Amino acid sequence: MERIFFSVGGVDISVLKASEVPVFYIHGSAGDAEIWKNQLGEIGGYAIDLPNHGFSGKAKIRSIDDYAYFVSKLVSRISGSGIIVGHSLGGAVAQKVYLNHRKTAEALVLVGTGARLRVLPKALEGLKENPTETAKFMADMAFHRKEFIEHFGKLFKERAGILLEDLTLCNEFDLLNDFRSGKIKFDVPVIAIVGEHDLLTPPKYSEFFKAFGAEMRVVESAGHMVMIENPKAFNMCLKEFLRSLGKSLE
Ligand code: COA
Repeated sequence: MERIFFSVGGVDISVLKASEVPVFYIHGSAGDAEIWKNQLGEIGGYAIDLPNHGFSGKAKIRSIDDYAYFVSKLVSRISGSGIIVGHSLGGAVAQKVYLNHRKTAEALVLVGTGARLRVLPKALEGLKENPTETAKFMADMAFHRKEFIEHFGKLFKERAGILLEDLTLCNEFDLLNDFRSGKIKFDVPVIAIVGEHDLLTPPKYSEFFKAFGAEMRVVESAGHMVMIENPKAFNMCLKEFLRSLGKSLE
């Protein structure tokens, strides 16, 4: 695995590269590329640090569309187009890559996400007023498997500023009516994968995509952080999807 950097619009974007398989992973709020290490190791591909995250440089981000701009430029630079795998906020970014930069997205893997991502007011207010307690509360909500909560509670506390910025962007993200009115349809293969115990983006949100052509898989023994909590089952779903696209993992 190697870390490589690309300059996009004057911002250094950091990417963890495991292989040249054109699968691009996008992390969620206050995350970074390393949350995909179980997928990079078994499946390969590229995990991106969004601007203002991980090892990437700083950029002014006003909406999910701005993150999608950076991802689309990067994907087109590396392989022209690719399979965009996005978790939570990253899943919103993946939808916007598809909508705004259609040639870049060959297929979408929407992980623990939705077409609308309203955030509990308690989380948005709490991150301003009481970041320590709210970070712990968010980690509690994010994981079904309790052994991860302490570590991620600390991480979310250290990253409370960017967590609040990202959750604010999620709260403004809303494509529900555009799907419902027929304005948006998927004309590339899409799969929604969600943990059965996801409290932040419940399976109902993934179910919604089915009416627009998406497949759906529910992963047992996992919450919102499904790719970390049950990597074996998650990777099976992802590999099966990649095979259905005729993608070799070599
Ligand atoms: N896909 C399909 N349906 C959705 C949806 C999605 N992405 N987002 C919302 N809806 C549905 C809701 O289920 C609800 O349906 P109902 O009226 O049949 O119950 C309706 O649209 C309105 O829901 P919502 O917009 O969420 O508003 P709300 O006032 O009911 O609830 C919250 C607001 C914040 C309490 C709620 O969204 C929630 O619990 N969110 C999850 C927690 C969170 O903070 N997640 C972080 C995401 S990054």
